[in-house]
Amino acid sequence: MLAALSLLALALVTSPAAAFIECNVLDYGAVADNTTDLGPALTKAWTTCVIPQVTTTVATNVLLYVPAGNFLLKSNVVFDDAANWNLHIAGNIYLPFLPSLTGTMLTFENCQNILLNGPGAIFGNGYRYRPGGNLALNPSRPRLIRFQNCNNCEITAVTLYDAPQFHVTIIGNNNVAHDMAIIASHIGETDGFDMSGNNNYVHDVSVENGDECVTVKTPTNGFVAERITCKFTAGCNIGSFGDANTAVNVQNVFYSDVTVSNSDAGIMIKSYPDNVGIVKNITYTGFTFSAAAYPLYISAFWAGNGVDTGKLAISDVTFNDITGTGTPTRPAVLLDCNAATPCKNIKFTGVTLTGTEANQIKNACGSGITGIPAC
Ligand SMILES: *[C@@H]1O[C@H](CO)[C@@H](O)[C@H](O)[C@H]1NC(C)=O
Ligand SMILES: *[C@@H]1O[C@H](CO)[C@@H](O)[C@H](O)[C@H]1NC(C)=O
Repeated sequence: MLAALSLLALALVTSPAAAFIECNVLDYGAVADNTTDLGPALTKAWTTCVIPQVTTTVATNVLLYVPAGNFLLKSNVVFDDAANWNLHIAGNIYLPFLPSLTGTMLTFENCQNILLNGPGAIFGNGYRYRPGGNLALNPSRPRLIRFQNCNNCEITAVTLYDAPQFHVTIIGNNNVAHDMAIIASHIGETDGFDMSGNNNYVHDVSVENGDECVTVKTPTNGFVAERITCKFTAGCNIGSFGDANTAVNVQNVFYSDVTVSNSDAGIMIKSYPDNVGIVKNITYTGFTFSAAAYPLYISAFWAGNGVDTGKLAISDVTFNDITGTGTPTRPAVLLDCNAATPCKNIKFTGVTLTGTEANQIKNACGSGITGIPAC
């Protein structure tokens, strides 16, 4: 009895709440003076403090911590083979205008179970890279955040402002982006969230920019987006996929509860005519548009040489409960599909869009709007 009790006591002493370890960048060369480059300090804190101390699979047990304060990030940081830790940004990170700066500022590669969270912010100063809206001046200007070949990662509560190029790219499986905002110039090449892989999830985010809001790239099997707000964006899209026989496999995509205002497009499936593969079982439900050009648009000829190869099959796309306003010079529904492989089972239920031109339907079959033939 006594032995059992002392064993229990020993067990209580030796298994305390998991250790909480903080690797503060200030201890590894960072200075909150908005001048010293934060990049080397992030790398050093990660390699010498985070990596040796990760002993569990609870990401929040080991923090790579950027405290409150103003930090300048002027070099790319790559966390390769990262697993089971938390990049916790409490401060403000600024990008300088450096014409030589390119690539991606923060990359997680081959990673697993990483949490990137705020409440801090990253300020991209993108407008300085494209003065007067000139996208050609610094064409290789940097992107902000990339999860490349990463699974079970999460990004939340960090606010991203005006990246020189795309904001968040996530490639991998079972990743989540949620409860965060992206606020950028109303200009192209400022994508909000570009997602590919299986079973990724984006929810409760807002994006203001001039390009993709929350967009699916190939390959994707299983994607959900819910409670999304898009302002001045190019909409919530699938594609584009690249040119020249790019293989496409996008299936089982579900968007719900999305508002899109003042946008260049609402929902687009956009490909080159020589893409090869399938886009199938796609559902959009609960969209509210205001002043959205091209609210519902499927185009096999979005870009490229226009030759109709018919090698991309788009099918089983449902638009449900879609209301609001388009723009007076664009159709509410525009379907421009392959003649050789028409879009099949395109269904519309509860679609009421006003302030638009008449629908235009070419090489598509389905139900629910006037002008679409049954399959
Ligand atoms: C930090 O530096 C950046 C880049 O030069 C600048 O845009 C930003 O305004 C500065 N932030 C503060 C708080 O001074
Ligand atoms: C279609 O996708 C949804 C997710 O949006 C999924 O629940 C459903 O099982 C898929 N249907 C088929 C036939 O695969």
